[in-house]
Amino acid sequence: MAGTTGAAKRRYRSEEHSINARDVRFDFRDVPMHYIPGEVLATHIVNVMHLVLPEGERAMAQCLAEAMPYIDDERLKEEVAGFVGQESMHASSHAAAREHLQSLGLDVETYVNAVSWLVDRILGDHGLTGRAKRAWLNERLGLFAGMEHYTAVIGEWLLENPRFEELGMDPAMMDLVRWHGAEEVEHRSVVFDAYMYMDGGYARRARTAVLASATLLPLFIFSTAYMYRRDPERTSDRSWVTQFVSATVRGVIPPATVFFTELPRYLKPGFHPSQLGPMDKALRYLAHSPAARVVGQ
Ligand SMILES: [Fe+2]
Ligand SMILES: [Fe+2]
Repeated sequence: MAGTTGAAKRRYRSEEHSINARDVRFDFRDVPMHYIPGEVLATHIVNVMHLVLPEGERAMAQCLAEAMPYIDDERLKEEVAGFVGQESMHASSHAAAREHLQSLGLDVETYVNAVSWLVDRILGDHGLTGRAKRAWLNERLGLFAGMEHYTAVIGEWLLENPRFEELGMDPAMMDLVRWHGAEEVEHRSVVFDAYMYMDGGYARRARTAVLASATLLPLFIFSTAYMYRRDPERTSDRSWVTQFVSATVRGVIPPATVFFTELPRYLKPGFHPSQLGPMDKALRYLAHSPAARVVGQ
């Protein structure tokens, strides 16, 4: 087992704080369809988080849970357990937001069921055993480590973007995306470290990262287009292209170029997620998130 060798253990680097799932409560009752006022397309780009990400997060949590029996490093095991708890909480919180939007008339159930079916078919364990099971587990860890790089980078962007306040974004939705973004920053190293512990090969790391980038961008575009078309409150005074360019220029949405500019950084042989932006902003947000405070009261 690769994870028990000294060489494999040396590849694991700690971020020096423990990862734990937070119990949070969001009240979506007063959230309107376009919760970033006047920004229909930008709202639907954020909606991809409620629609598609929960399915991926569930698959990721399941994959990391499968990896746990192979991990002997107690510290890494503890982080993986915390990661599984955080991603499961993300999935259920976004699913609740999606159910609220569905109740307002945004009919996305068929799409969500299709995504769920596809994720299970592609990223499930396929009932494999022995060496094939281990190889497929490592492949999925590589893929999820690549995807987690983007969620960490976008998480940083969500925390630092001042446009949401300026535009009067609904506070419950703003807290949801920032709480999620902050936890993505907090646990940014976990899947990468688990991959390095279980496999650590550069060729697989690079190949799966390219595959992750090539999957996420079209998925975002297709899912946004689907919701935009099904939006019952959409007005047609501005085309989606105009809205997309305008939202990008004004910094209302993350730049789509992130899928190209971040890949070379991730592919550097000495890269580690701890080299991304400072952690303190994320931890400070998590200490004061309204959703977390409701539970603590
Ligand atoms: Fe997440
Ligand atoms: Fe994550």
